[in-house]
Amino acid sequence: MRVALLGSGRGSNAKAILRAKQNGQLGRADIVGIFCDNPHAPMLKLGPRFGVPAFFLDPGPFKTKFSPEQESVWANTLLSHQVDLVVLAGFMRVVKTPLLNAFKNKIINIHPSLLPLFPGLDGIGQTWRADVNEGGCTVHWVTDEVDGGQHLGQIRVSRENSDTLETFTEKIHAAEHVLLPKIIAELSVL
Ligand code: GRF
Repeated sequence: MRVALLGSGRGSNAKAILRAKQNGQLGRADIVGIFCDNPHAPMLKLGPRFGVPAFFLDPGPFKTKFSPEQESVWANTLLSHQVDLVVLAGFMRVVKTPLLNAFKNKIINIHPSLLPLFPGLDGIGQTWRADVNEGGCTVHWVTDEVDGGQHLGQIRVSRENSDTLETFTEKIHAAEHVLLPKIIAELSVL
């Protein structure tokens, strides 16, 4: 299964996936490229470090969506890499028709909340402010509804009295780094 990692920033989820691959824990998945919409994304540095090609691709002039022309360029680039699964690993941009049509039921996303609770921006902050006693992360199929596609897996994280927003955030990120490689490995052997 040929996998593309799409991201915008730090790349800690991408790193967890690349580590899992190094450790033989990614099933039959191969990471064929890292694709960033931000030329300064630290995630791009993972390419040389893990021996995977890493590219900046222009998303167009908007902050949270593609221009339609550039979304087609992204779709064609991923098609030319013969990608079987597109993984949104910290990709801060809404995916629309050009990519959804080119990769029907082949795009997954990780979101840092127990969906359907707290979709959209800042899932961890939303969870924290709601004062609930647990949060977590969800991997789901990507559809035209933001964070609304069918769930592939979740990890729950309890919120203790001793937690601060920082410690709660760290626990959720640690859970993400377990969940996303696990789901990719599972999909690769279906
Ligand atoms: C993660 O919390 C992910 O759930 C969200 O954006 C964050 C990206 O972090 N979509 P990183 O770039 O993988 O470190």
